[in-house]
Order: sequence, then structure tokens, then C-alpha cells
Amino acid sequence: MSDGQVKRGQWSSRLLFILAATGSAVGLGNIWKFPYIAGENGGGAFVLIYLICICLVGIPVMMAEIMLGRRGQKNPIESMKALALESNRSSAWQFIGWLGVAAGFIVLCFYSVVAGWALAYVPRVASGMFEGATGEFARESLSALWASSESLLAWHTIFMVMTCVVVARGVNAGLEKAVQILMPGLFTLMLILLGYSYSTGYFSAGIDFLFKPNFEALFNGGHFGEAVLTALGHAFFTLSLSMGSMMVYGSYLPKDVSITKATFVIAGVDTLIALMAGMVIFPIVFANGLSPEAGPGLLFKTIPLAFGHMNYGSFFGFLFFVLVVFAAWSSSISMIEPVVSWLTENTKLTRVYATTMIGVIVWILGLACLLSFNLWSGEEYQFFGKTFFDLADYVTSKIMLPLGGLLIAYFAVWSMSKSAIRSELGLSQGAFEFWRVVTKYITIYLVVLVFVNSLCGGMSFNVWMISSALIVAGLLLTRAFYPRRA
Ligand code: TRP
Repeated sequence: MSDGQVKRGQWSSRLLFILAATGSAVGLGNIWKFPYIAGENGGGAFVLIYLICICLVGIPVMMAEIMLGRRGQKNPIESMKALALESNRSSAWQFIGWLGVAAGFIVLCFYSVVAGWALAYVPRVASGMFEGATGEFARESLSALWASSESLLAWHTIFMVMTCVVVARGVNAGLEKAVQILMPGLFTLMLILLGYSYSTGYFSAGIDFLFKPNFEALFNGGHFGEAVLTALGHAFFTLSLSMGSMMVYGSYLPKDVSITKATFVIAGVDTLIALMAGMVIFPIVFANGLSPEAGPGLLFKTIPLAFGHMNYGSFFGFLFFVLVVFAAWSSSISMIEPVVSWLTENTKLTRVYATTMIGVIVWILGLACLLSFNLWSGEEYQFFGKTFFDLADYVTSKIMLPLGGLLIAYFAVWSMSKSAIRSELGLSQGAFEFWRVVTKYITIYLVVLVFVNSLCGGMSFNVWMISSALIVAGLLLTRAFYPRRA
């Protein structure tokens, strides 16, 4: 099908857009990744930095990304090309679209593996095997799962098929139906779990860990720069930014919806769920003598214990992991939607065929991630001291997503005309200027700063000075070579 012939899907209502975008944002990033990186980085101080990143970087970039999508009215690659032409810029800006598509592939290959763990825990918890279990038992049972490449493969395959089926059915038929019941259900289950955590007697220890900033630990550990980069990268990851997901969803968004309000709702719910997950998990960690630094296994070593000690725990546990799978599902859908929409709009491939093809490629890449936990965990299979799984996470969260977000913010404020942006964002003059100043100076500055800082491996005065000089030089060069837009 050629471009003009395609009838683009459109969300049937504002609420559905918000649900779908929230479905994309809320996922393993909130329930699995946020608690474990907060644990690894010492808790409170890290959480504070993360919240700052959400407000000063995540929210402005999300507004920009949804706006670019709605204005472009195409898949991310074509949208960026069209917008660049509209603003007399080089069509090389479509690189943002390509970068996103590439990041989508890589994220999904490890995402699907972790979603597979959650799938595996559905029958496990339902069978009652965690009733009265100890921390030791929970740890060993996760290790047993990781050691079995066959089971990991089976669950990864099931998850990929689930994702592809929804994507193949298209935006209205597939995505909308999938998200309507999940969000409220997940929220309710989290409340029940919070109740359990409260009853452990370690609730305040958990809350202290999560919300009492202890910068000394972060500075003295000597990995402050790395921690800030982790927080920044996670702000992009958890809000599904820079990968074209929000752009493609924005392109299905009717013109009369306020992008700003939608962004605040999505970011608010996303942050709430992440913090709730932390508040559930850390009291359980302390009550059972587990370590907050348990890494990627944290969720699976703690939550089953809660259900094992709760009335009707096997039933609630079953529900919980089903909902985690659903949350992961509505996110993974949004990762391949950008590529699939590009393929269907620019080649002769049908949606079903395009989805199958992409699904198979991601599935194969996923194998390398899954073997990282057993057959390929040895040093001979590591690159830069990281397994394939860690590398996929590192390259996307710490390099590709921040870079994509930087380019999106940069393009939006420096290349598009003010009137175009303002009419899309639907803001009053004052609010619009506020967004523009924050994005132009603070967001871009922070991302560059964190990048330079992590390259230099520390947060020293010199690094601040060098990066600040770089950024000012960049702004001046932009002024000189990129004439201002009306
Ligand atoms: N935000 C999702 C989560 O927190 C993951 C996700 C979906 C994503 N789409 C994305 C991450 C696009 C990066 C880019 O689990």
C-alpha cells in the first residue's frame, strides 16, 4: 500500500488514548526495574534524582514527542521527515525515527525475556508452592528457573506470540481492548499488597529506605555519575520515550485533545505505580532478611513471599502476576507498533506479515538475552564485562533513549515554528513559554550534562564546567546557523 491510500487508525476517544499511553508507560519498568535499580543505588537519594528527571526531562520530552507524532500524522520515521521538510530542515532528522526503531528492537528482546519470568510465576504462585516459604526458598526457586533455558525459552516464546497477535490486529481492534481493564485491576492489586507490606512490621524501614535521601552513600560509593545516568535513562524508559512509541500513539490522537493534560496524567500514574511497587517490595526485603541490592531478581524474590504468607495468597498471587504480564504486554505492543506502522505504510507488506517478520527477529535476539542467565553467563560470552542481557539494557537505557530524547527536545524547540507547537500543545501563552524555556535550557542541558559526566566517570567541578561550556557553545552555534523561527 502506498502512503496516500492508507487509512490511519485513530483512537476512538480521549480516554482510550490516555489508557493506551499509560498502558505503554506502566510496565516492567515500574514494577520490576524501578525497585531493583533503586535498591542497587541506595534508595532515597536515587529516588529523588529520578523524580527530578521525570519532572524536568521526562515530562517536557513526552509533550514534545506526542506533539511531533500528532503533527506528523505518520509513523515516526515519516513523521520526522515530513516535519523536517515543513520546517526547512534536513531530512536527516528522520534519524530520530530510525534510532527509535532500533532501540525498540533491542528493548523488546530483553523485555520479553523478563515478561517470560512473570508468566512463569503465574502457575508457580497459583500452585501454592510459596505457602509459608522463606527468603532462601524464593531465591533458590528463581535460580532454578534461570538455570533452565528450556523453560525460559518457552515463556519468552509465548510472550512474543501474545504481543504479535495484538499488534497484528491493529490499533483499534487490538490495542484498545487490551488496555481497558488492566490499569484499574493492577492498581487494586497493588493496594492489597501495600496492605500486606504494612502488616510486616517493616513498613517504616521500607519507606525510610525509599524516601530518605542519603547522598553520602551515593557520593562515597564513587558512582554518583553512573547513578544519575541510571536515573535519567530510567525516566525515559519508564515513560516509553524516545522510541517512537509515544510519537506513533500521538499520531492516532484526535486534534481536540490537550497533549499537556494527557502527559501529566500519564506521567503521574506511571510514577505512582513505580513508587507503590517500591513501597510494597522494600518492607518485604527487610522483613525477610533479603538484600535491597538483589538486582534483576528482586521482584521475583520478594513478592512471592508476600503471597506465601497472606490469606488466599495463592489466588491473589496468581492475579498479581497475571496483571504484571498484562502490564508488560501493553508496553511491548507499543515497542513494535512504530516499526510495524512504518512497514505497512511504506512497503507492500500487510500488517500481519510485517508483525510476524519483526516478531521472529526479536524472538531470535531474545534468545541471546535468555541464554545470558545460563549457558552464556560465562566470561567468554561477555562484551565489555557485560552479558548480552545487561548490554542490551545498558545500550538502550543509558545511550539510545537519552540520545533520542535529546534530539526530540532539540528538534521541537529549535526547528519547529512557535505557532505550530503552540497550537498542537494547546497551551496558554504563559504556559507555553514556560515549557519552551524549560525544554530549551533545562532539559537539553541536563541530558548533555549527564552524558558528559558519565563519559568522564564522575561528578566533579571540572566536569560541570566543561559540560556547561559545551552546552553554551552548542546553543550559540545553533543561534548562528539555525535562524530563529517566528
Ligand atoms: N515504559 C515501559 C515500562 O516501563 C517500557 C516501554 C514501552 C518502553 N515502550 C517503550 C521503554 C519505549 C522505552 C521506549 O515498562
